[in-house]
Amino acid sequence: MTIKAITKLIKERKSTYAYDFSEKEIPKNTIEDIVENALWAPTHLHTQPWRFIVLKGKHQQELGEFMADYYREMYTEKKFSNERFEATKNYSKNATLLAVIFKPNKKAKLPEWEELAAIACGVQNMWLSCTALNIGCYWDTSVATMKYGKSIDLDGDEKFLGIFYMGHLKNEIQFRKRKRKSLSKKLSYDYKN
Ligand SMILES: Cc1cc2nc3c(=O)[nH]c(=O)nc-3n(C[C@H](O)[C@H](O)[C@H](O)COP(=O)(O)O)c2cc1C
Repeated sequence: MTIKAITKLIKERKSTYAYDFSEKEIPKNTIEDIVENALWAPTHLHTQPWRFIVLKGKHQQELGEFMADYYREMYTEKKFSNERFEATKNYSKNATLLAVIFKPNKKAKLPEWEELAAIACGVQNMWLSCTALNIGCYWDTSVATMKYGKSIDLDGDEKFLGIFYMGHLKNEIQFRKRKRKSLSKKLSYDYKN
């Protein structure tokens, strides 16, 4: 593997939203290959503080309906038109929805931020895996989705950390222009004498 190949994969990784997903389902073994790669993320003290749940069946319709109702209540009709309301109702119907769950490791008692950082590494592994498989995806932690997550049955100490959406892409998608601030703004050197 070359750094050039890795850099290409990293830069091609992107957020693709469910409006751009086709009806074609992602097979179970592909979902499992993707999640398996999440499990190889680094964790302090090897805590592996996660589990993932594929939300199937009625979830796919009900999540969209929940979002539509949530935004309808939040915004005026002018800001959230009937057209958007109807589209949002069907937003998640073609998506493979993977709930990301934080399962604290009681023995290790690490600061929560370390565990969340590790989970984000796991999600990045899935994001890159999807990129390599030409599967669209993104991590959704919007307020509506976080509220929907309350309906998922979790153990008392677990926390819902949003949904990782995945889907095969429709043809001829117009991808957004993506850019990043320059390295010089984000990297500095501290020379200690
Ligand atoms: C922790 C986390 C939560 C995110 N939550 C949302 C979200 O709720 N809604 C959304 O549209 N995008 C969400 N995103 C995706 C970001 O908006 C996206 O990564 C960012 O715009 C950069 O675009 P790119 O992924 O195509 O490079 C989330 C990303 C991360 C890392």
